[in-house]
Amino acid sequence: MSLFEAIRDPARRRDDDEELEKRLLWVNKRVFGHEGFRGGQLQIIKATMKKRDCVVILATGGGKSLCYQLPAVLSDGVTVVVSPLLSLIEDQVSTLVTTAAGIPAAHATSSTKESSIRAVYCELHRCHRWHKLLYVTPERLAASDTLHDILRKLHERKLLARIVVDEAHCISEWGHDFRPDYRKLGDVRAEYPGVPVMALTATATSATIADIRRSLRIGEDAVVHRASSDRPNLRYAVCNVTTQSDEQINEMICSFVAAHHAECGIIYCMTQADAEDLADFLCNRGVKAEYYHAGMTSLQRRVVQMGWTRGRIHVVCATIAYGMGIDKKDVRYVLHASLAKSLEGYYQEAGRAGRDGQPSECTIFYKKNDVAKLQRIITGFGKHRRRGPKLKRDLDRLEDVRRFCEETKHCRRAILVSHFNGDGGPSTAALSDDRSPVACCDICAATASQYKNSTTTTTTTNNGAKRPGRGPSTRPAQRPRIDTSYVLSG
Ligand SMILES: Nc1ncnc2c1ncn2[C@@H]1O[C@H](COP(=O)(O)OP(=O)(O)OP(=O)(O)O)[C@@H](O)[C@H]1O
Ligand SMILES: [Mg+2]
Ligand SMILES: [Zn+2]
Repeated sequence: MSLFEAIRDPARRRDDDEELEKRLLWVNKRVFGHEGFRGGQLQIIKATMKKRDCVVILATGGGKSLCYQLPAVLSDGVTVVVSPLLSLIEDQVSTLVTTAAGIPAAHATSSTKESSIRAVYCELHRCHRWHKLLYVTPERLAASDTLHDILRKLHERKLLARIVVDEAHCISEWGHDFRPDYRKLGDVRAEYPGVPVMALTATATSATIADIRRSLRIGEDAVVHRASSDRPNLRYAVCNVTTQSDEQINEMICSFVAAHHAECGIIYCMTQADAEDLADFLCNRGVKAEYYHAGMTSLQRRVVQMGWTRGRIHVVCATIAYGMGIDKKDVRYVLHASLAKSLEGYYQEAGRAGRDGQPSECTIFYKKNDVAKLQRIITGFGKHRRRGPKLKRDLDRLEDVRRFCEETKHCRRAILVSHFNGDGGPSTAALSDDRSPVACCDICAATASQYKNSTTTTTTTNNGAKRPGRGPSTRPAQRPRIDTSYVLSG
């Protein structure tokens, strides 16, 4: 009897909660190699095992995959996982099949070999119960009649275990990576009554979550797990480079990278040409850098990704196509050399840093002109010029990013947490009680140093003149334009 047959052996099943929990712990250790569960995982896994619909909002790197991979291993039949990016799908499937236990998983996407797709479809069509997970893109699920026939047959035989929608914010026009075919998933789920659905995302505002629920027809009785989106090991900073020339900015990026010698990082650039130029510039300075963007062939992208995952490449200069869902734990910094179009997009990209829980930096090189450039891109040109409420919504989101970059008073970490949790967010003090405020963000660092200065006899004013100290000040007197040496010192 194989490990997977043993796990599902009905003779071993008892349906009480205690027994279920024991089995989950055992599989988590034996199959996935984890000593225990992280916050929320056990509760979500138990709920989906009991066929409840689940909406899971867990921070980037929080361990969302386990919430459906472990139940997939334990359930009869196949779990269908809808995921937006080919690189993410390939990464997940290869991790599953190469685990010590070798979890049977496959993908059917535009980059999967036709012969592999045929073999998987054939196996599923015969209901052989071999594959535990099938990853597909929403486009494949929307377009393939063969796949639908197979799912229908599996469903009839009660072998369609679960439908999982990863990166579920892509469903929502209120999300930041909207993909039209995600919208059709509500119809897909309606075709298979009784099959539980799980929607997962790291970055979703309340409007996005409501839209996800509506689109996937997730009812009131669903389990919604929303963990704080806070990532305490990430340190945020914004460096205003508005007055710097492109050459100066490149030099600053180079110093930033040098300060993180041999550490892994991602640098987000606005255009494909920017990514290529910056990678060349860094290479000429002896940095192991490569570029990555949607204009490359899939083979080229795979080579870069593999080199980066294995540590041969230290820095990837990328457009935003890069990184969503890629599980590389030791990314020590994410540098935005251009702005994200929304705080949701920013948090997703910055969240690639520090997935191992170690201190990591998220720094934006903010150039005021970038806001105008992005406004023009978002608005569109000529006959592609956009109008109406959707344009306004996208411009409002960019405005959030601008405000975040130009913030002078409030903790950046608190702003982000409050943006996603929809409440007032934790106070700076609450955020900082587990760590030094200097480690939290540039604004807290500036406030802390100002506090230190103000407790001495004099305080520096905006124009650099000294005035008599008036006790502790809790606010920086001016926008703390980050001292470059501070940012560059890593
Ligand atoms: N219970 C656990 N114990 C130890 N490690 C875990 C546990 N659960 C997940 N992990 C590890 O945490 C890492 C991140 O997990 P995962 O890729 O599922 O994150 P995620 O929440 O999907 O993030 P993203 O939003 O970026 O996709 C993985 O390397 C995974 O093996
Ligand atoms: Mg994930
Ligand atoms: Zn702070």
